[in-house]
Amino acid sequence: MGSTEEIYEISTKTQEVVDDYESYVGGGFAPYPVALTHTKGSKAWDVDGKEYIDFLSMYSVVNMGHGHPKILAAAVQAMTEGAVVNLPFHSPYYGKLAKKLHDLFGYDKFVAMTSGAEAADAAVKIARKWGYISKNIPEGKCHILTAAACYHGVTLSTVSLASKKSSAFGPFVPNVGSTAPSGKVVAFGVIDDLREALEVDGERIVAFIIEPIQGSAGIVAPPKGYLKEVAALCKGHNVLFIVDEVQCGLGRAGANLCHLRDGVRPDLVVLGKALAGGMYPLSGVLGDDHIMGLLDPFEIGSTMAANPVGCAAALAALDVLVDEDLSQRSNELGDLLRSNLKAANLPHITAFNGAGLFMSLVLEDKPPKVTPRRIVSLLAQRGVLASAAGLRRIRICPPLTISKEELLKGAEVVIGVMRDIEGCGELPAEVLVDVRH
Ligand SMILES: Cc1ncc(COP(=O)(O)O)c(C=O)c1O
Repeated sequence: MGSTEEIYEISTKTQEVVDDYESYVGGGFAPYPVALTHTKGSKAWDVDGKEYIDFLSMYSVVNMGHGHPKILAAAVQAMTEGAVVNLPFHSPYYGKLAKKLHDLFGYDKFVAMTSGAEAADAAVKIARKWGYISKNIPEGKCHILTAAACYHGVTLSTVSLASKKSSAFGPFVPNVGSTAPSGKVVAFGVIDDLREALEVDGERIVAFIIEPIQGSAGIVAPPKGYLKEVAALCKGHNVLFIVDEVQCGLGRAGANLCHLRDGVRPDLVVLGKALAGGMYPLSGVLGDDHIMGLLDPFEIGSTMAANPVGCAAALAALDVLVDEDLSQRSNELGDLLRSNLKAANLPHITAFNGAGLFMSLVLEDKPPKVTPRRIVSLLAQRGVLASAAGLRRIRICPPLTISKEELLKGAEVVIGVMRDIEGCGELPAEVLVDVRH
């Protein structure tokens, strides 16, 4: 297998889907030319009926597996009841979900949004309000610090949080980002950078927001002990410590919330993606009363946020997370996958990063044949869905419900692809690049 004798081409049906997209869709995330129509558990099927093993979970959206029967049943029931949005009246689901999150994670309050970016934006707003009211920062001076290479979404406020911005969208939201007011750039995982920034600008900084493991940067875990030191520094400077768990949370990295691996308790926690089991858009922020209590009605929310279908799905998804011990599965299966791939002594892989089933394969810099996009393309050709991450990484994040057998079957495909990629001819979509970083 592998090499120039294999013919890799896009089917007519797939091409039709791609053509519609390219002709009529604006923006988007440069999808690979794979057109999926069905998913179930850890598998997906395309327009031609070809079967794939999902090693991506749609970017950590389906941690609980595609179409988990309990989550699906809960969502369908809420939909059948004739779900109303949660704006002008109460539905029983929102408060029930907020209580469940309180019981699970110990925060006083939860406020719901729909996308991860909206929730990150909400966290910024909440932190600013806290900064003006509780930290007594003069008007217009609140600064929100992030870590370089972070990703919190692509709305105007969340691209403003990023270190690399396209100048086509300026002016950006001021006083946010990975550069402190005095000019210090804070690298992810480098505690001395944060210390210096807080020593110089701590009076104006209201919050430090980080992903406990950076996702879109390439699934990059910080050095051991980093989060603990971050928490202590933030506390010492009266700065809110905010974690964005949109991608790494809810079992993905081997803990119900990723930061729990480090035994810290952030002030605000941003959730999204898998919160409603991938069944419905739902995100939100967790925090305690002394911060969340500062919010007045109509300050955070949206028409479709906390709609009953999403909340019902989330109630079931959280049950599945706990009842099926998915964080433990993530650790066990992550260890199994990592040891399997390591034992194969594969070419082009220089390191493994991440935690549990939140994993990246770090590649040697060897274009034009060995690139993340080509590897992902060949994986898809051979029936495994993964994605490029960062500049030189492959993201491997199967649903946490995947069976051992399926996981090892997928691992065999990864092993074959890494061995064959250098000898392979041109592949579909290999020229597209992941533009996030
Ligand atoms: C850590 C993190 N925060 C926020 C977001 C944005 O979420 P959404 O795409 O739902 O707006 C993402 C998306 O990948 C993410 O990984």
